[in-house]
Amino acid sequence: MKRDGALKSIWQENIPDYQSVNNWNKDEVFDVLIVGGGITGLTAGVLLQSEGKKCILAEAYNIGFGTTGGTTAHLNTILDTSYDSIEKDFGAEDAKMVASASREAIDLVEGLVTRYGIDCDFSYLPAYIYADTAEQSDRLDEIREASTRAGVVASCSEHIPVPMAFKNACRFDMQAQIHATKYLHGLAKAYETEGGVLIQHCIVGNVENGQHFTVDSSLGEIKAHKIIYATHIPPGINLLHFRCAPYRSYACAFTLKSGDYPAGLIYDMSDPYNYFRTQTINGRQYIVAGGFDHKTGHEANTEQVFRELEAYLRGHFDIDSIDYKWSSQYFNSADGLPYIGELPGAENIYVGTGYCGNGITFGSLAGKMICEMITGHESKYAELFDPSRIKIVAGFADFVKENADVISKFIGMRFDYEKVSALAELAPGEATLADWEDHKVALYKDENGRIHALDPVCPHAKCIVDWNSAEKSWDCPCHGSRFAYNGALLTGPARKGLTQVKWEDIEGD
Ligand code: FES
Repeated sequence: MKRDGALKSIWQENIPDYQSVNNWNKDEVFDVLIVGGGITGLTAGVLLQSEGKKCILAEAYNIGFGTTGGTTAHLNTILDTSYDSIEKDFGAEDAKMVASASREAIDLVEGLVTRYGIDCDFSYLPAYIYADTAEQSDRLDEIREASTRAGVVASCSEHIPVPMAFKNACRFDMQAQIHATKYLHGLAKAYETEGGVLIQHCIVGNVENGQHFTVDSSLGEIKAHKIIYATHIPPGINLLHFRCAPYRSYACAFTLKSGDYPAGLIYDMSDPYNYFRTQTINGRQYIVAGGFDHKTGHEANTEQVFRELEAYLRGHFDIDSIDYKWSSQYFNSADGLPYIGELPGAENIYVGTGYCGNGITFGSLAGKMICEMITGHESKYAELFDPSRIKIVAGFADFVKENADVISKFIGMRFDYEKVSALAELAPGEATLADWEDHKVALYKDENGRIHALDPVCPHAKCIVDWNSAEKSWDCPCHGSRFAYNGALLTGPARKGLTQVKWEDIEGD
């Protein structure tokens, strides 16, 4: 299974690509076009089809290519934004609503697994949060009390299932986990069984609005009355790009010499926090661990981050072998809650984004809420998660710092291959942003020694991309668009790739 980076997750290895079965009649005007075949799009698709809507789902690459395939696949009612923060910013009643919404998301996943017989290792587990300093311990007490007030069952625990020293710990029952891509494939199959059309390797472009939407795509025009952008962040430039900030999280899966695997979902209280769970793949148990998050495009050496994660894990576990390492992207929202509903300023276009580190939970919820909105049922959470809401919370002004480093276009200028390549004394597999006269050029030397040169100006809103050495991608620090070494678009919100500098043209002059 291909993914949006060089490193495959534990969910992507040895999983064959999903094969669509239903045919697309290009003359048909669909009720709904769903853009994106991750957790949000496929959940919405299954629910809409089962409600009698006729949908077409367009995935830019293959099912499991994007962030759902790179998640660590937790389903929680305890969230990255703690309930005491939600109470402070939104009020006690809204904190209860958030708890209830996240519980509904877990129930929904369990219900779909049962209804469609999806084999995805769904299981309920207790979660533990542990504190290892006095200050964290006080915070944890506040979190436990606020969680209880919101309706999440929480209790003090004298035990945690990982070999870490701790001062205080809290247990939350009825959390859950899944195998991410087995679940996605199960949803895709259910969606097609319900009559939905699923097209892969289809990049969606401009949208025109008339009697219905007419949407350009790499496979031809798609016609639909409503659109769902289930693309992690919507394409184009929208208010939401200034209210969501992209982050990368690092994960690995390893075996233990002792065979003593933890039963539960475990989180510490570091900032960023570390997390652990167990997963069995083909009869072999693994601990899946993650953390060391940073804002996308703001880490000079992403391979070093993996080294730090590994050193941390080796300091606590009797690791036998580390079989998988990967990183993945998520979007933090400005006020800590997701944006789910109609895209601001765009009627009949829906979106789910800003899930923070709770993508499987909120992606499932978004699929359900958007289905309710499209089928004319009232969603009781619509106002709380309204993408148009403005909630000024502490730090809002500093939340998304736009990269002011806008440079003029240089494509069309003449480049001397010898001189530019000499600017970057790169080893094979390395990349750099080199200065060329008044401009920058993004250079990558492949394993055969060939230099790939790109205009580093992100086509979304003109920020300068940065190299992610671990995933071998150019990542935009502003809103999280990502591009392959040859400029191909991996993830939006940009709608197209980076422009290549064509050496052949220059050499031919
Ligand atoms: Fe917005 Fe690059 S993603 S400028």
